[in-house]
Amino acid sequence: MGLQNVVVSGGAGYIGSHVVLTLLLARRFKVISIDNHHNSHPKALGRVSKLARDALPKDPSDQDKQSAEVDAYSTSLNDAISLRDLFARYGKGNIWGVIHIAAHKAVGESSEIPLTYYANNCHRLVYSSSATVYGIPPIIPIPETTPLKAESVYGRTKVFCETIIDDLCRARPEWRAISLRYFNPAGAHESGMIGEDPVGRPGNLLPLLAQMAVGRVRDPVLKIFGNDYPTRDGTCVRDYIHILDLAAGHVLALDALSDENVCKTFGNVPEPHVHFKAYNLGKGRGQSVLEIVHAMTAVSGHEFKTEVIGRRTGDVPDLTADPTLAEKELGFSAPRELETMCRDLWNWQTKNPLGYDTPETDPTCVDGDVTVCVGGKLSIGAEEPPSEQPIDEATSPVHPEFDAGVGVPLPSSP
Ligand SMILES: NC(=O)c1ccc[n+]([C@@H]2O[C@H](COP(=O)([O-])OP(=O)(O)OC[C@H]3O[C@@H](n4cnc5c(N)ncnc54)[C@H](O)[C@@H]3O)[C@@H](O)[C@H]2O)c1
Repeated sequence: MGLQNVVVSGGAGYIGSHVVLTLLLARRFKVISIDNHHNSHPKALGRVSKLARDALPKDPSDQDKQSAEVDAYSTSLNDAISLRDLFARYGKGNIWGVIHIAAHKAVGESSEIPLTYYANNCHRLVYSSSATVYGIPPIIPIPETTPLKAESVYGRTKVFCETIIDDLCRARPEWRAISLRYFNPAGAHESGMIGEDPVGRPGNLLPLLAQMAVGRVRDPVLKIFGNDYPTRDGTCVRDYIHILDLAAGHVLALDALSDENVCKTFGNVPEPHVHFKAYNLGKGRGQSVLEIVHAMTAVSGHEFKTEVIGRRTGDVPDLTADPTLAEKELGFSAPRELETMCRDLWNWQTKNPLGYDTPETDPTCVDGDVTVCVGGKLSIGAEEPPSEQPIDEATSPVHPEFDAGVGVPLPSSP
């Protein structure tokens, strides 16, 4: 069987780059990435491709070689003409599936899915959702059956998108879709070549700590919002999952949408003609803010100064997944422990103190080429990034996902 064309939107981002790498290493897919680099660096996909080429067998077939290459489109999902051209280039019906990862993560910004373009080309969709859809969950660990009551605008965009996909699957039985509700992805590929490099100040705890430890974020003190929650040590608890375990979940989800597996995947839903399901991707074990700080101190040797201030509006005490359904039905597992997440994050951060803008001195971390497709024209090589200054708390924007209570105060959730 030839390679299956899979479109990954947001393929250059933190989660996207690790998902693309996992797809390339499976050697069954041809990956087409669409990313406007709103919050990512074009270099990421060059490095992903290099890792995949380096992992090829000794005498790779032409198909193996092809599977290690990414077609990277530097375009926005909102650019209808580019999107139409892109899909036209592969020909109608030649896109096997779409993994829709792209979104603006900041609370208050919205995300859209260009379903019209996807629908014209394929009927298999894996959607990046989030544990924020649960709001303040009544049961911990959280099962997928929990009512969706997002507290933030960001969380509601995820609920809306899931609802739209569900409606689409109800109206069009040929559609099959899986929503993956991520808990807290963390860490990096063990090579240290790809990792989390958000534009501006990190909104999530682990990358914030890593950037504080290397001096990229210059806050002298980590502010902790509340230590009087009903948790082990009073600080908020989140379910951290290694980014590679999370990425592997996407290949399992794609496989669950294949013709061979569709009956198995959707056979037990109340309306078997509606091919839509949501799965939690988490470890099923939570860690508190203080436990994360200690784990990062252990790998980095950096003594973080902390200051407990009042609770932050909208913070939920505990977001721990019940991942049983994904384990049972997708064969999902998340074996990598917190120490591995912290070690891999620290490896990435120390090799790339300025993220992808770090000048290359480490010979194991050289950039690879990627097929970059800009404005409909193909060219080889990554674009030059803007240079970057150390991040100062006073001037940098907060870019929060739904991490535990740390950082600078947020506006209240509406
Ligand atoms: N990181 C987390 O903690 C977390 C948790 C739960 C869910 N999620 C979801 O996972 C997805 C990816 O998150 P991430 O952490 O990798 O974020 P990210 O910002 O690193 O990745 C998103 C990517 O999408 C791209 N993008 C955004 N808008 C686009 C557009 N209009 N056209 C083309 N590309 C566009 C960005 O440039 C970026 O590369 C998002 O949907 C996010 O909501 C993330």
